[in-house]
Amino acid sequence: MRCPEGSAAQAATLFLWAHRGASAVAPENTLAAFRAAEGAGAGGIELDVHLSRDGIPVVIHDETLERTSNGHGQVARWSAAELVLLDAGGWFAPAFSGERIPTLEQVLAWAGERLRVNIEIKTAAAGAAVLRLLRDFPRSRVLVSSFDHRLLTQLHQQDPELSLGFLGETRFWRRGVRRAVAAGAESYHPRADLVSRPLLRACRSAGLAVYPWTIDAAAEVDRFLLLGVSGLFVNDPQCVAKHLKSKQTTLKLQE
Ligand code: G3P
Ligand code: CA
Repeated sequence: MRCPEGSAAQAATLFLWAHRGASAVAPENTLAAFRAAEGAGAGGIELDVHLSRDGIPVVIHDETLERTSNGHGQVARWSAAELVLLDAGGWFAPAFSGERIPTLEQVLAWAGERLRVNIEIKTAAAGAAVLRLLRDFPRSRVLVSSFDHRLLTQLHQQDPELSLGFLGETRFWRRGVRRAVAAGAESYHPRADLVSRPLLRACRSAGLAVYPWTIDAAAEVDRFLLLGVSGLFVNDPQCVAKHLKSKQTTLKLQE
């Protein structure tokens, strides 16, 4: 997306989730990406969680280390103490060398109450550990999501107060929406190309917010704005916020 000139203040019309942090400008799922997201005015950060060998939730997208760190093999084969020593930034750009794989605890402590944190649980094995950890952060503004709807349903049974987001990447969204409603979820998160007016109508009448993923192009932002989604997962929140802001200005000038 070509970034418009001007302020990047958060546009009021859409809630922006920085996908893996501001992953267009900093290495995904690192504190550098989360800081950049906050600086860009995102309302929340999205991150991915796996479990270390010793049962600690760690923030990384893949189940293996090669793509986003200088480590090797399965995340689950290494202890948290070993994982946090790896370089998780050099692959992105030399300036980010020395960025670490954060633990979920570190990110929650950093985010405090300032930002919402969408914890996407990548492996059902991490569910119980995430739930335990969240007890230490009662003031965190967390939204727990997963493609594993059975896991989300179990988490809801264990903690009915937990805010849940059901991820969808198939055309069978009606089943996902039904499960989300049954689990008292806050939101449904469809892959962007699966968003349709019937899906939005169903979610709206069920009281579910809709957060599509992942959007980068200005034309897509405009389409979702018109469709009336609640927010978007974006890789470059600064750019999208500027785009939304410029649109609001244009609309105001036309009024
Ligand atoms: O939560 C939305 C999105 O992050 C799901 O896909 O592969 O980027 O984790 P992925
Ligand atoms: Ca994710």
